[in-house]
Amino acid sequence: MRLEGRGLARRRAKATRGDASPPLDYGKFMPKLHVVVVSTRPQRVGLPIAGWFVDRAEKHGKFDVELVDLKEVALPLLDEPKHPRLGQYEHDHTKAWSARVRAADAFVFVTPEYNYGAPAPLVNALDFLFFEWAYKAAGFVSYGGASGGTRAVQMAKSIVSTLKMVPIPEAVAIPFATRSLDERGRFTGGEPHESAASAMLDELARWTGALEVLRA
Ligand SMILES: Cc1cc2nc3c(=O)[nH]c(=O)nc-3n(C[C@H](O)[C@H](O)[C@H](O)COP(=O)(O)O)c2cc1C
Repeated sequence: MRLEGRGLARRRAKATRGDASPPLDYGKFMPKLHVVVVSTRPQRVGLPIAGWFVDRAEKHGKFDVELVDLKEVALPLLDEPKHPRLGQYEHDHTKAWSARVRAADAFVFVTPEYNYGAPAPLVNALDFLFFEWAYKAAGFVSYGGASGGTRAVQMAKSIVSTLKMVPIPEAVAIPFATRSLDERGRFTGGEPHESAASAMLDELARWTGALEVLRA
């Protein structure tokens, strides 16, 4: 069982004070990290890259990691009549997306760059909700041609900041991603990717802990 972000700090403090409750297993308190596959295209490069990153995040050991595939989430283009700030959702797909995003404490978006910008599925998935994103740290694994998807990340950062997320500067950028897959279509990364992922996860964990008080 995993406890959600809310109340986590209070429970930790209580455990530290040595209240009468039974000893707590800190393994249960790992924050939940959603690794979001942004591309919804057939044969997308995003999926093997996300698989590689999930493996890195699990080995890092500070998060309870879940892969979230926007192709499977399958949101339509934003179709809610009211502003998401009100949280009055009409559609089941929005309610399901809201519950899924609420359950996470931090996010890593695995995103390509389309036309020097953030891909439509990412912008749409962000626009659907509001408070569900707030006070959660966001990291980016980006990929593309020479730019390594960095222009998409810059654009996405302004959107996630508006949703009160904290985008962190540490990131993994993968140039010429299609050439980086092996003969079985897997992305195996290299030392620069490994160290970039590790630095990002360290910082993501730090921010996730610091923001916990605001999520409570
Ligand atoms: C609509 C579209 C626009 C693209 N625009 C860019 C771009 O601006 N910069 C870039 O580096 N690559 C661009 N590409 C190439 C992508 O980096 C490449 O196709 C990559 O595989 C896309 O990721 P995906 O396979 O996970 O969808 C574009 C690809 C598509 C389909």
